[in-house]
Amino acid sequence: MGLLDKHGVIERNATLLLVAGLVTVSIGGIVEIAPLFYLENTIEEVEGMRPYTPLELAGRNIYIREGCYNCHSQMIRPFRDEVERYGHYSLAAESMYDHPFQWGSKRTGPDLARVGDRYSNEWHVQHLKDPQSVVPESIMPSYNFLAEADLGFDNVKDHLVANQRVGVPYTDEMVENAEADLNAQADPDADWEGLEARYPKVVLGDFDGDPTRLTEMDALVAYMQMLGTLVDFSSYDAQANYR
Ligand code: HEC
Repeated sequence: MGLLDKHGVIERNATLLLVAGLVTVSIGGIVEIAPLFYLENTIEEVEGMRPYTPLELAGRNIYIREGCYNCHSQMIRPFRDEVERYGHYSLAAESMYDHPFQWGSKRTGPDLARVGDRYSNEWHVQHLKDPQSVVPESIMPSYNFLAEADLGFDNVKDHLVANQRVGVPYTDEMVENAEADLNAQADPDADWEGLEARYPKVVLGDFDGDPTRLTEMDALVAYMQMLGTLVDFSSYDAQANYR
């Protein structure tokens, strides 16, 4: 009996075929999955990453609430055309404090993973209020109302604690100062010393053009302005992890 004939036995017995198939697939699965149980972490740590400031976190919540992810991704793939257009490809570590992550799967508009520091606050505000006024062919909807909406984020402390529980390294000091930090970041008259010490590279100042009010626009623009700015790619060495 040749090998093919022997195989015929499996093909003619549904139960045997099912069992043999399961065994084969399980071996493949175990080989891939088992090593992960023994790894401390599957994300390479990268210098510069820190948790979101309370204001950035508030802005991020608005980004999710408004469904910006339906049209925008936040993940630059390691392809030449993407890297030339958007900057260094995204690292896993750059979204390790994201709950939930905003990689997205649809690009009606451009990727936003590194939009931080690319435009002025004024540009963002104008663009969000009336996209067509800065990009005439834009099909992005207007978010004018964000500039009129006071930022109601009284439970900011709870948001930090919730993130802390799922592994974001917010310190007790950060939680303690959450409300003060939320208000200070967009207030030009505030004392920023503590905030800057807790959150390196924080972007400070009035975002929405109205320093007397803290609006949802302040929060969203603060979030836009920090996207992709935490890791310093002039000193980042991708090869270092493989040596
Ligand atoms: C219906 C799809 C759609 C939605 C929803 C949408 N956008 Fe856009 N967005 C676009 C398009 C298209 C562009 C490119 C044209 C332009 O600049 O307006 C764009 C551009 C942008 C840019 C400029 C990016 C760059 O690199 O030039 C930013 C920033 C931006 N959007 C932020 C947002 C935010 C924040 C939200 C949610 C509040 C949002 N978008 C919702 C479609 C969308």
